Amino acid sequence: MSASAIPMVPTPLTSEQAEAMAQRQIKKHHVAIVLLHWFNAISWLLELSTGAGLIVSPYYRFAPVWYLQMMEGIFGSRANMLRFHIAVGLTWIAVFLVYAIFGFRNYLRIEVLQHEIGLDSDDVQWLKVRTLLLLGRTKDPLPPQGVYNAGQKIFALLVYTMIPLIMLTGLTMTFHWFGTAFVAWAMILHFFAVGMVVSGLLIHVYMGAVFPEEKPAFYSMITGVVDELYAYRHHFKWWRAVKIQEQAWRDELRREEEGEAPYAEEKPADVSRTDQPPLISRPQSGG
Ligand code: HEM
Repeated sequence: MSASAIPMVPTPLTSEQAEAMAQRQIKKHHVAIVLLHWFNAISWLLELSTGAGLIVSPYYRFAPVWYLQMMEGIFGSRANMLRFHIAVGLTWIAVFLVYAIFGFRNYLRIEVLQHEIGLDSDDVQWLKVRTLLLLGRTKDPLPPQGVYNAGQKIFALLVYTMIPLIMLTGLTMTFHWFGTAFVAWAMILHFFAVGMVVSGLLIHVYMGAVFPEEKPAFYSMITGVVDELYAYRHHFKWWRAVKIQEQAWRDELRREEEGEAPYAEEKPADVSRTDQPPLISRPQSGG
């Protein structure tokens, strides 16, 4: 496929095209991200289950009494449960710190974040159409999406803003930073930030693990890859950008073979989503 043959907008596929695309895989997640994601999910499971068991004040408690008693039974005492909660929390922070230091260039630079989770006009339209579709008020197709759809981007933005707050307030409570009043505020903020993430997490886990259309996304968080047909149908702008990069690489190789360009020792571009994001030009809205 030449660069000009890569469609600007999703077009209907023939059954042969769809079959061929279903066989081809595109790399979506680096193995480091897959490992971090599942480490994070397990940490959240442990922290939420112990955190809920630690809140016994009648003003804030939301877990039923049988749950509090069960958790205290498992750990022997509330003090042990708190020690466990803190130990998991500190480990979680340490792992994220390593990730932030070594992965900053690839995953956390502002350009990367803007490219992957910044909302554009297609995303705003996607949110409108998605809502109307859920209400049965439209039959319009969803606008093309980038590597993440608008719903995923909003959840990621929520997580990226709340996680530092959860970490800082957790550290403040653990080490009693800045005095009692500060610790009291930290407690409220910690609770608030966790609540915000949990509200999005319910939808995230449903979409990721249960929603049938998103099954390939779930497996991509294990294998790191999605099939091209899924990418074409659900993340067209990302699919298109990957195809343009692949084509540019093939053209470069062809020119080298024909002796037009000096031999390049490095593979010019990795088409995975994270390694070279700035090279993946975001196609204009609608294409
Ligand atoms: C059993 C629990 C979980 C499941 C089944 C799950 C599933 C998934 C899947 C399938 C993706 C890939 C989406 C894609 O590539 O299109 C993903 C990405 C992601 N997950 Fe999770 N996840 C879980 C827990 C969590 C937790 C606890 C957090 C953070 C608090 C989290 C944060 C994220 C973020 C930030 C992304 C990238 C953007 C996004 O899809 O929203 N996940 N998850």
